Amino acid sequence: MNDNTNFVTPHEMAIQAEYTQKVREMIKDKELKTFVYTLGCQQNEADSERIRGIFLSMGYTLTDDETVADLIMVNTCAIREHAEKRALSVIGRYKHNKARNPNTVIGVCGCMPAQEHRAEQLKHSYHYVDFVFGTGSLHKIPEYVYNALNKGKRIFVKENEKPSIAEGVPVVRESGFKAWVSIMYGCNNFCTYCIVPYVRGRERSRKIEDVLNEVRELVKDGYKDITLLGQNVNSYGKDLEGKPTIADLLKEISKIEGDFWIHLMTSHPKDASSELIDAISKSNKIANHFHLPLQSGSDNVLKRMNRHYDKEKYLSIVKELKEKNEGIVFTTDIIVGFPGESDEDFEKTIDIVKSVEYDSIYTFQFSPRKGTVAYSMENQISDDVKKARFERLNDVQNEISKAKNEAMIGKTVKVLVEGKSKNNENIYSSRTEGNKIVHFESDKDYTGQFINIKIIRADTFALYGEI
Ligand code: 5AD
Ligand code: SF4
Repeated sequence: MNDNTNFVTPHEMAIQAEYTQKVREMIKDKELKTFVYTLGCQQNEADSERIRGIFLSMGYTLTDDETVADLIMVNTCAIREHAEKRALSVIGRYKHNKARNPNTVIGVCGCMPAQEHRAEQLKHSYHYVDFVFGTGSLHKIPEYVYNALNKGKRIFVKENEKPSIAEGVPVVRESGFKAWVSIMYGCNNFCTYCIVPYVRGRERSRKIEDVLNEVRELVKDGYKDITLLGQNVNSYGKDLEGKPTIADLLKEISKIEGDFWIHLMTSHPKDASSELIDAISKSNKIANHFHLPLQSGSDNVLKRMNRHYDKEKYLSIVKELKEKNEGIVFTTDIIVGFPGESDEDFEKTIDIVKSVEYDSIYTFQFSPRKGTVAYSMENQISDDVKKARFERLNDVQNEISKAKNEAMIGKTVKVLVEGKSKNNENIYSSRTEGNKIVHFESDKDYTGQFINIKIIRADTFALYGEI
């Protein structure tokens, strides 16, 4: 069992409030601008909204133009090699900002520098970066910025395994109707391919009242689509007093009055309980959509991935979800080319994809992450084989997606309007409860509102309809 989660003390938050005030004084009348570059998952998007909130409270204004920014933060991802390469290239180009204006303050945070070898690399090869931390010290940004503005020593924070949770950090949300709410941080699962437990530490849950208050505020402010975030939301509450479960949390959220959708991201199949499935089916606020990462359809591979479920268990959850929630939209994550994955193993994945009939899938080619168990496993798969499996799997899924989308023609669905499509003045984009994209024509702008659309056409990636 975990120890109880640490919460950042009001005293520590008061110290940061003082730094915020000091920075405000220092930069007042200078009209300084800030730019935050975000890579990776929704958890990072959510963290960046808090980073922007902190920057604004210090007196900076936001800019979309990174070349004129006086304060730059790169929030990085480490899930695959590609993400790290991109982060390093983005950080690399800010060298020119510092050359042009030596007063520019540059910070790097997120999963990449939470790995020691990457923090070392930033220290020795990226001299213009002023402060670096992982994912657990976000509330201390005012102190780091104050230090950099005063030309203090560069800061490199070594995160511990159980970073604290800070409540009361200001947030600047990107959207006025869609919001992320982190309900827990970290992961205890140590899937053998995954870097997350090493860079985000052990599971910590936010208190149920804190989550409920945030959701209540969002609903009051007119938010319509709220995603509860956690690496494995099914473990929610295990470290809290009274051990509230994710189902308890969902039941409480469902009591909040208003017209809104709740999404969950992400559920681990090993502990998707009947209690959770029932809570979803009993509430009309919890979206009829389930993202259930499969990763592989082969029991052999699942075992070596340390996933703690087999094909049979996975399919039994799918069956229960489908039985209790008519028309539920299913999505999943799949990794191809895990070390030792044979053609036969891969075919088993194809079989499950065909039998579950997901609405869409996220397919990834295995990327060895230094420090994980799978990094040094034998029988690594060649890039060519990974690519071929990736393409084959997507071809199989695309046909399924198309057929599932076509089956919606003639139906009327409730959608949340997201805004104008880029290409055409009167064409708007919206999303269904299951996150499917629906385009439609309208003279009136319904952005941020729920409306009903009759589907008249469908292809692999989108639906088309009329009001
Ligand atoms: N290589 C490829 N994909 C990965 N994922 C996690 N780690 C790796 C890796 N090393 C995928 C998993 C996870 C999703 C967020 O990213 O499918 O569910
Ligand atoms: Fe990574 Fe597995 Fe944790 Fe998901 S559950 S974050 S895949 S270790």
